[in-house]
Amino acid sequence: MESKLKTMIVLSFCLAGIGSVSSCKKEKQATGTDKELYEMSKVTDGFIWFKNSGSLLNKSAGSGHPQPFLRTRYNAVAATKLDSNAKIMNGATFPEGSLIVKELYENSTSLVRYAILYKNSGSADADARGWVWGYINADGGVATAASKKGSSCISCHSQADNIDYMLMNKYFP
Ligand code: HEC
Repeated sequence: MESKLKTMIVLSFCLAGIGSVSSCKKEKQATGTDKELYEMSKVTDGFIWFKNSGSLLNKSAGSGHPQPFLRTRYNAVAATKLDSNAKIMNGATFPEGSLIVKELYENSTSLVRYAILYKNSGSADADARGWVWGYINADGGVATAASKKGSSCISCHSQADNIDYMLMNKYFP
């Protein structure tokens, strides 16, 4: 009886420990605009890959994104601004409804985060140019909330030779 009690106490400590470790590690789960962006970005159907290739690329020297590998895709609306090599047309401005998703990988197989640009000027979370900025982990945890309106992203994405904020053409010519 005594040893059974001991086991139970140890077990409950372990469970509490595991619980708190994982809840410390997990970001807040996406709701509202973040959830909407997450749901839209998880599906890959109907998207076109940058340069028509779904192979992983090594992140560029200019990347503000910590993960070593990436690949970027465009929904059908955004793809109207891609040329025949699936690079962005010079001087393009993306139309309403354009969704650009960069998948970030921590190694060759594990997708860990989505970096998202969605043109939706009607959104309360849109920046001055109508873009909504999403940064959401593959498990649905919010890395940077859309309500921040890209405040930590815009200055870097406004650098010379961006096309409507896009940097893939510049760093992967
Ligand atoms: C210090 C610079 C820097 C910061 C800060 C930054 N990015 Fe990026 N981002 C890049 C670069 C460079 C690329 C091109 C691909 C690469 O090398 O990662 C890129 C690519 C992207 C793309 C793919 C579309 C394209 O062509 O640019 C998206 C979407 C994106 N970033 C979203 C974000 C979001 C959301 C944030 C803020 C939470 C952010 N970025 C912050 C530099 C930055």
